[in-house]
Amino acid sequence: MNKQALELTVENMMSKPKGILAMDESSPTCGKRFAAINVEDSENNRRRYRELIVTSPDLSNYVSGAILYDETFHQKMSNGEFFRDYLNSIGILPGIKVDTGAKDFSNHPNEKITEGLDGLRERLENYALLGAKFCKWRAVITINEGIPSEACMLANAHALARYASLCQENNLVPIVEPEVLINGEHSIEVCDTVTRATLKCLFEQLDLFNIYYEGSILKPSMVISGDKNKKRADVNTVAEMTINCLKEMCPQTLGGIAFLSGGQTDEESTSHLNKMNKDNSDLPWRVTFSYARAIQQSALNIWVGKDSNIKEAQLMLSGRAKLCSAASVGEL
Ligand code: 13P
Repeated sequence: MNKQALELTVENMMSKPKGILAMDESSPTCGKRFAAINVEDSENNRRRYRELIVTSPDLSNYVSGAILYDETFHQKMSNGEFFRDYLNSIGILPGIKVDTGAKDFSNHPNEKITEGLDGLRERLENYALLGAKFCKWRAVITINEGIPSEACMLANAHALARYASLCQENNLVPIVEPEVLINGEHSIEVCDTVTRATLKCLFEQLDLFNIYYEGSILKPSMVISGDKNKKRADVNTVAEMTINCLKEMCPQTLGGIAFLSGGQTDEESTSHLNKMNKDNSDLPWRVTFSYARAIQQSALNIWVGKDSNIKEAQLMLSGRAKLCSAASVGEL
């Protein structure tokens, strides 16, 4: 492990006023997003859409890194240039999602375990050789009657630690993503309890594996009411409870924190992040975004597969990235 190289990547990823763009939807997930706007799920359409994203105006002013899916990482743009090389050329670090998805967790109904450890070392060696600087692995924790189970939190935290260890062996910064899903009727207090338990379990495992925190980035969900809760907590409460939770559960030496948007509306995702940064100038780590839907969705809805809509969709995407960037420094 080259600690200096990891720290340098973290420094670049966390540079102000930027965040990370998640554009690493697996082909099945991308297919679902396309189906909703009646666009055929083909390799060419996925390339067209991703090319729209990365060539949006001024993107590199707002985004320091982009998380790609394997197909995009190896794909060429219409001018014959690899996406990963183009991103590098405009000052955006290329990263790669390396888990192979959240699968049903045996004997634990309604819970998921993320797979992808087999052969991971060799895949990471290859990604590093081709210029990837960081990786992502997403674990999913579901809130419902009697869940999450300790087994689910532990198995997922253990996998995240093994993943992070292999990343650092290859001088790739691990983005460690334990997502507590927003889906459900639960209160913000329940989300807080589950997020704390998840992070406690996660950092116990990361400690056990001697993960180098300065060379790691946490990608958490916010502490927030369930999407079907009747009395959802307001912006101030979400911002305050999220920051308190992170301050109490995360090591101060962590390289940085970059939230997922997790189904929040565009407006929620920016106002929550903005409030956290406005009210807390003394945090031990940078707190920024690593959004997919909250940056992409409105642009995707404008594009609907038509070349004639590309310019307008790109303006929307840049606009969303700009707002997220402002929120990441509390200047919205
Ligand atoms: P959302 O911002 O849409 O939650 O996606 C972030 C992500 O990368 C999920 O793994």
